[in-house]
Amino acid sequence: MKQPLKKEGVPDRPIKTLERVISKAGLGSRTEARSWIGAGRVAVNGKVIQTPDKWVDLERDKVTLDGKPVRALSKLYVLLYKPTGYLTTYKDPEGRATVYDLLTEIDQFISPVGRLDQDTSGLLILTNDTQFAERITNPDYKVSKTYLVKATTVITEEQIQLLRDGVILNDGPTKPATVNRVADSESRSSLEITITEGRNRQVRRMIEAIDSKVKKLARIAIGPIRIGKLEIGTHRNLTPREVDLLRG
Ligand code: URA
Repeated sequence: MKQPLKKEGVPDRPIKTLERVISKAGLGSRTEARSWIGAGRVAVNGKVIQTPDKWVDLERDKVTLDGKPVRALSKLYVLLYKPTGYLTTYKDPEGRATVYDLLTEIDQFISPVGRLDQDTSGLLILTNDTQFAERITNPDYKVSKTYLVKATTVITEEQIQLLRDGVILNDGPTKPATVNRVADSESRSSLEITITEGRNRQVRRMIEAIDSKVKKLARIAIGPIRIGKLEIGTHRNLTPREVDLLRG
């Protein structure tokens, strides 16, 4: 059976066959799942379904076996240290690598909280908790994101002050930022920039607004969460305390 096509503009959803939903919940093998479904013991949204191939949307549909919920979708909060070269989309029509290629053993559907460009490395949170995601991305909650930026030129103190005060981008002025010089070589400066917004390619555009360019960009912190010992390309769950800290 073909998986239903996604509608234009609607994100891909965690859709699985009914048989797989039951076997993935650890209740039995796929053969057992098929036989339970065939025997009329399984319902989707209260209606008995006897087709193992029925597509089920794990975020919306309630599946029961003998009247008991099959899977209460637990909340998952994953912190990934994204290398460059990976997209933060679920599927790329051109077949390029996505962050999901680094999360293959996670069988719940989790979405990136905000995005990192393909050529940006650093911390990315993925979760199935949409309210939590909203808190991190909505600038009203002022959750900071800190970036280490290597610019293609030496950045003067005046340019740094412009970044701090806010620069004008084509989608409006940026909010005040915390900007510190990390190091200078003869031809380049490295800066640490903390912002509370997350507009598309914001840091790159801020640096372009002061007549330089980004050579290298990494997100090194989200609120109080830093990379720490996490190795590039790997991930870990956020601790309950970290989740609370980020919720504010
Ligand atoms: N700003 C950018 O320009 N790119 C990112 O990936 C994140 C912030």
